[in-house]
Amino acid sequence: MSRTLIRNGLVITASDELATDVLIEDETVVALAGPSISQGWTADTVIDATGKYVIPGGVDAHTHMELPFGGTFASDTFETGTRAAAWGGTTTIVDFAVQSMGGSLREGLDAWHAKADGQCAVDYAFHMIMADVNEGSLKEMETLVGEGITSFKLFMAYPGVFYSDDGKILRALQKGAETGGLIMMHAENGIAIDVLVEQALARGNTDPRYHGVVRHALLEAEATSRAIKLAQVAGAPIYIVHLSAIEALAELTRARDEGVNAFAETCPQYLYLSTDDLARPGFEGAKYVCSTPLRPSEHQAALWRGLRTDDLSVVSTDHCPFCFKDQKELGVGDFSKIPNGLPGVENRMDLLHQAVLDGHIGRRRWIEIACATPARMFGLYPRKGTIAPGADADVVIYDPTAQQVISAETHHMNVDYSCYEGRIVTGRAETVLSRGRVVVDKGAYLGAPGHGRFLRRDTCQYLR
Ligand code: URP
Ligand code: ZN
Ligand code: ZN
Repeated sequence: MSRTLIRNGLVITASDELATDVLIEDETVVALAGPSISQGWTADTVIDATGKYVIPGGVDAHTHMELPFGGTFASDTFETGTRAAAWGGTTTIVDFAVQSMGGSLREGLDAWHAKADGQCAVDYAFHMIMADVNEGSLKEMETLVGEGITSFKLFMAYPGVFYSDDGKILRALQKGAETGGLIMMHAENGIAIDVLVEQALARGNTDPRYHGVVRHALLEAEATSRAIKLAQVAGAPIYIVHLSAIEALAELTRARDEGVNAFAETCPQYLYLSTDDLARPGFEGAKYVCSTPLRPSEHQAALWRGLRTDDLSVVSTDHCPFCFKDQKELGVGDFSKIPNGLPGVENRMDLLHQAVLDGHIGRRRWIEIACATPARMFGLYPRKGTIAPGADADVVIYDPTAQQVISAETHHMNVDYSCYEGRIVTGRAETVLSRGRVVVDKGAYLGAPGHGRFLRRDTCQYLR
């Protein structure tokens, strides 16, 4: 048995800030105690965390490694993407296995296991994207929930690719209510968006910034409202992914105020980037094409407020990187052909720590939205998302004073640009432990592909 002792740090969880030492045996946290007790502890490895925070490893509940999209694949593999996650202090990802049209959920899940198993630097789990809701796939939901795939993403956007009509959505929600599976919704009215895309292109409006124009905020709000109402009809909870618009947040807030079990995440890009980035000169704006799209900067204050009031419960990255060269460039002359998605798995913990320094959120709320709540929402708590006896020893020694300049030159994601190029943030993961193993230490990578294990998840812990 190996014992690791983390001394002299400030342990921050979603509920507490305690000057306490942490004892780890093999892969598990076994005790927290102040010096009067911990001085009696012996360990093979002692980590001095004086002046540092000791926080749970980040839980990023929305990533897309190797996602096929728009004729190409997201550029991070499970190996490169989870390594980058570890560098950024994230020790659990929940990625999306994809059902193909005409295929079964099982085939999609097997394909994602084949990509991820033996490759990951940190622990990983899967949601399932349902691209083809039918009798067979609805039946499969129950089996998958039993196997730890307890959430299913549906799309109100992308007709002909991932899109489900309201009838299919209602059926999936009903099955979710029956089985405990949580339906996650990409809430944009894709039928209306496609009309606006066609009209924009016919007018010669082909630049990346039109991606933001046609994906109108009201079409996000309308879909958010419709999704929530369909969930109410089905008697099911719902989780809205990548919420970006004030108008959509208003729909969510109204429903929550009425007591509906509607949850939502937003992403760092909506908190820090805007349509000004989409409108960068030349084709540069393509780097910022994602869906839902970036909004005018006025939306940011509302999203921060939503995070403070808990109308927004989680910050995930929706990490879905495409290189500018050759991948984003597929959309030169036609914004609708730019692959949708941004890189970010490495930057989330630091951008949210910067939000603490900027006064948007408190320190415990930082841990709540980035670690504890995603773990609870997706059935991983308290194994993940906290530091407590019995939890996996996914622990980050975080230096709250280290300054860094975010750049593609220095990041570890397999993508040739950073959305945050040149941005200075204060705070950095100094040492990262994944199930007791040091995977990053003071600028050195010590992890390995295959260390990360597949996590069978429980059902959403807000509903039990
Ligand atoms: O632009 C995005 N968000 N790409 C990834 C797929 C999705 O809809 O989450
Ligand atoms: Zn989506
Ligand atoms: Zn996504």
